[in-house]
Amino acid sequence: MAPVVSGFSKLSKSDKIEWLVEHHFNNDQNTVDILKTYWNSDEKLQQLHDEFTENTISNYYLPFSVAPNFLINGKRYTIPMAIEESSVVAAASKAAKFWQNRGGFNAEVLSTVKVGQVHFTFTGNSEKLKTFFQSIKSDLKSSTSHITKNMEKRGGGIIDIELRDKSTEINNYYQLHCTFDTADAMGANFINSCLEQFADFLIQAASTYQDFSETERTIEIIMSILSNYVPECVVRAWVSCPINDLPKTDELSPKQYAEKFMRAVQIAKVEPFRAVTHNKGIMNGIDAVVLATGNDFRAIEAGAHAYASKDGKYISLTDAKIENNIFHFSIKIPLALGTVGGLTTLHPLVKLALNLLGNPNSKKLMEITAVAGLAQNFAAINSLITTGIQQGHMKMHLMNILNQFQATTEEKEQLIEHFKTNTVTHSEVVQQIEKLRN
Ligand code: MEV
Repeated sequence: MAPVVSGFSKLSKSDKIEWLVEHHFNNDQNTVDILKTYWNSDEKLQQLHDEFTENTISNYYLPFSVAPNFLINGKRYTIPMAIEESSVVAAASKAAKFWQNRGGFNAEVLSTVKVGQVHFTFTGNSEKLKTFFQSIKSDLKSSTSHITKNMEKRGGGIIDIELRDKSTEINNYYQLHCTFDTADAMGANFINSCLEQFADFLIQAASTYQDFSETERTIEIIMSILSNYVPECVVRAWVSCPINDLPKTDELSPKQYAEKFMRAVQIAKVEPFRAVTHNKGIMNGIDAVVLATGNDFRAIEAGAHAYASKDGKYISLTDAKIENNIFHFSIKIPLALGTVGGLTTLHPLVKLALNLLGNPNSKKLMEITAVAGLAQNFAAINSLITTGIQQGHMKMHLMNILNQFQATTEEKEQLIEHFKTNTVTHSEVVQQIEKLRN
């Protein structure tokens, strides 16, 4: 077992690696080599990455890919995607190509409200608290003017502050439920700074409020933090086409295809076990864009899954219907994304990704990202109801297996050719490699 180490973060990068290799890798120098292989030769760039977090010892690469041919609201996009799962970008590109000849994707932002809360304990008369809150509300808001000044210039700011009585759920529990518009920023720092200022102001104002008793004057702040649940920061994206323009397979007519597709979505509307995987597929597309554009994919994931269960049951984020022989497929999802601040100006690849998208504002990025999710879901359901998912997956996975066996370029070429007409399974690939090598 490795010994307890103190002051680790203060060690130099080389000393950190030395400690790690000594205590976890039996002094194996190969470990050092692997870590160093991923260092960037450009020292300034490496330092930038080192400083993103604490205790950085190397870089962890993800493929940075692009999915072309996305027609969104009449404009063509090539979407950047950072993801390791082999079939995701291929699926997105395929869906993009399919829909570009059928009017493309449409998208619109429905709302952009973000939320933060100050959670506090107040022991006393709740009516008095309400009167107190009304008396300080406007000063509470203006107490943040030093924080909100710049945001207001960019069209954002505090929308409202509400006092919420939660004391029936937990004794003496109240909140300031605050709503924000953070313009093109994701806004986490802005929101949290405002909330902490509200908390300070609240304590101060309560401590001198004449109508409060001694106990009522001592409000205890439990915490001040933004919420990643953003049901009012929502974007909708959709596609539609005449049923006859849908794929036709050996087994399914376009009408049967539409009905089977709809049924697959309906299943994800009633069956949580399916809904989670269905939404996971949507998030394959969404996370990849969120990561490539330097946004916080954990926040997006948390918000999306919470939204999927907003009516008390976890269900699909997409919807499908047939009306007057037209097939409609849509997604509604909260996406609190930013295109300024954070990594967007720091990370060269993030800058490039945003550039590739034509430097969108946050609303445009919400639309593009929702489309990536919808496209991904379309591609997944398309495979599931026709060939099954493994055919495409294993085709894309073939390269991973070949690399696992350190196949040479020549071996790869021969085996890729072979598997164009043969089913890829792990054992079959291994067998073919062995055959070639013998
Ligand atoms: C795999 O990463 C995602 C899928 O399972 C999604 C789905 O089942 O809808 C293919």
